Amino acid sequence: MFLTPYPHMLHGADYNPEQWMQYPDILRQDIEQMKQANMNCMSVGIFAWSALEPAEGEYRLDWLGEVIDRLYENGIYTVLATPSGAKPLWMSQKYPEIRRVSAQRVRELSGGRHNHCYTSPVYREKVYAINRQLANRFGRHPGVILWHISNELQGECHCPLCQEAFREWLKKRYGTLEALNAAWWTAFWSHTYTDWSQIEPPSPRGETAVHGLTLDWKRFVTHQTCTFFENETAPIRAANPDLPVTTNLMGFYDGIDYRKLAPLVDVVSWDSYPVWHSRPDGDETFNAFWADAFSDYCRSMLGKPFLIMENTPSQTNWQEVCRPKTWGFHRLTAISNLAHGADSIQYFQWRQSRGCAEKFHGAVMTHANRTDTRVFQEVAGVGAMLKKLDALCGAQTPARTAILYDTESHWAVNAAQGPRNAGIGDTDLMLRFYLPFWQAGIPVDIVDSDADFTGYDLLLVPMLYLLRGDVSRRLQEFARRGGTLVMTLHTGLTDEHDLCYMGDTPGEGLAALAGIRYLETDPLYDGMEERIVTVRPPFPLADEYRCERLCERIAAEGAEVLAVYGHDNPCMPDDLPCLTRNAVGRGTVYYLAAYPEQKFLLDFLLRLASRLGIQPALETALPYGVVTAVRVASDGTRFLFAMNWTREKQSVSLPYPLRDYETGRLYQNVMPLSPYGAKILVAANSKA
Ligand code: GAL
Repeated sequence: MFLTPYPHMLHGADYNPEQWMQYPDILRQDIEQMKQANMNCMSVGIFAWSALEPAEGEYRLDWLGEVIDRLYENGIYTVLATPSGAKPLWMSQKYPEIRRVSAQRVRELSGGRHNHCYTSPVYREKVYAINRQLANRFGRHPGVILWHISNELQGECHCPLCQEAFREWLKKRYGTLEALNAAWWTAFWSHTYTDWSQIEPPSPRGETAVHGLTLDWKRFVTHQTCTFFENETAPIRAANPDLPVTTNLMGFYDGIDYRKLAPLVDVVSWDSYPVWHSRPDGDETFNAFWADAFSDYCRSMLGKPFLIMENTPSQTNWQEVCRPKTWGFHRLTAISNLAHGADSIQYFQWRQSRGCAEKFHGAVMTHANRTDTRVFQEVAGVGAMLKKLDALCGAQTPARTAILYDTESHWAVNAAQGPRNAGIGDTDLMLRFYLPFWQAGIPVDIVDSDADFTGYDLLLVPMLYLLRGDVSRRLQEFARRGGTLVMTLHTGLTDEHDLCYMGDTPGEGLAALAGIRYLETDPLYDGMEERIVTVRPPFPLADEYRCERLCERIAAEGAEVLAVYGHDNPCMPDDLPCLTRNAVGRGTVYYLAAYPEQKFLLDFLLRLASRLGIQPALETALPYGVVTAVRVASDGTRFLFAMNWTREKQSVSLPYPLRDYETGRLYQNVMPLSPYGAKILVAANSKA
């Protein structure tokens, strides 16, 4: 299974020939140099609107046609962008309505990018028109393999048009103001709406206290971004319904719910920019695991590989300190991306611009305009490696474990005031659940409340504060049918309107499912801690672990108590449960009431996985900083990946002989890994 009509791993970059029109020599060189860098695709036209339509209705596509043709003649395919990420000045001057209005209700001046109004009929019309031009001309060009819609869709607009659209959206959702007032609990502080026109999006100068409004506004922003996106793709799909479409996402950006956008694309892609080399000891595990978590999140969206649309070949220009990837490090990051489901390595950017904001951003071709630079050579090396990896294209990740992380719940729990305004830590907790699997090389999906849970054996539900749709029914079914479910503190407190459940929580029957009942929450200041004291460990665990941030007090109502809180508070009883287990149907439900230190989750989750027979990529004890991953090709070949995220030489004991897929070299008992080294491997006897 290939993501695009070009049946190979993609290796390419954002390419901006429109910035180099006055430099024909550079444009000529580009193609030769791209070939030397072993590149097979370029993302073209991302911010080229003023070159494509220099004046209203005057389209100039010939230059783009020449670029696409020349690339194609040279074996380089085009990922063709729509230019809506940055609007031409003539347009924002003539049509001020397309300029975004902030939450402070201030309209922006012209300039910048990613700052259009996504409701404005004028902007939608202009985007539709340019996209139709592009689609009709290039939609069936054999050199074009993928549409890159806009760029990093983001932000919100509070202009009158958006406000009116929001009201219309609410009318459809609620039907009557009575229903809306009830859902939003507006009798609170006399915030009852008596006319639709009184509804305004949340603003620091206005309403922030009505959480139903805050949540619905975020849902609307996602909805409106999606309809904007559909307006972009309509002419594109009409011109050639078979050409796939993507849009590049940003790691754990929560301004829109990416899961709602995912069904509108054929291929998920994202831009990966971890802050590499920010620690003096050279330990890169934290950065790596964050990036891989988002890769797994992207992979889980459509249940298939995704593309790395951008990463820097060297350094960014926008991080606090923009360190270049050190010698050999780029290969490591590329292999790690592949390990977690990427079928491409693409860069921002092919060539450094001479002027403006990104002139010092890293690129494959720097201002020196030479191919003998370290960065160029390392990029070419990755390209050479990708050429050998056709068999890996489309390979799946065999996850039997899923973590549920729901954007709507994330919005709601972070908008709530209390119980811990110094940081509720839902995303951090999710990542703490992810880390043990990442370290051990156990494939894990990251899904949301709408996912189908039936294929999993282990389902982890950290802090699912808000329950929506029929998620509670499906969680119950999952457990009753034999699944192992781990729920945590701060789960099931509110419904889809962010209204608190009355009665026992976690709501909608989840308290009974876990055999517990929520009593109260005791949040801790930073630096304070209590302890998790195991009283009846389900499998070997240490006697004690630390816990922090939020201590949820629960009563066991049928569940076995596996651990209780340890504390230094003479007023507090010594038998307050913090980890319980309940048998339901053919399955088991664990409830973790404490916010645990990482070590607890490493011990608890990995032992749980092992009891369920959930295996890591490679059954061996890995040294600190070495991680593994697995992808399985359609012919059954298991590709193993080993990454060393430390500056030390490492060695891995092998449970069976492995062959380096790139070099053919065999490793019998022990496999060395150089500092920041990485390998792609198959079993020694594999036919691949
Ligand atoms: C991305 C963006 C690119 C470029 C890059 C620099 O967020 O999509 O256009 O600006 O950052 O790192």
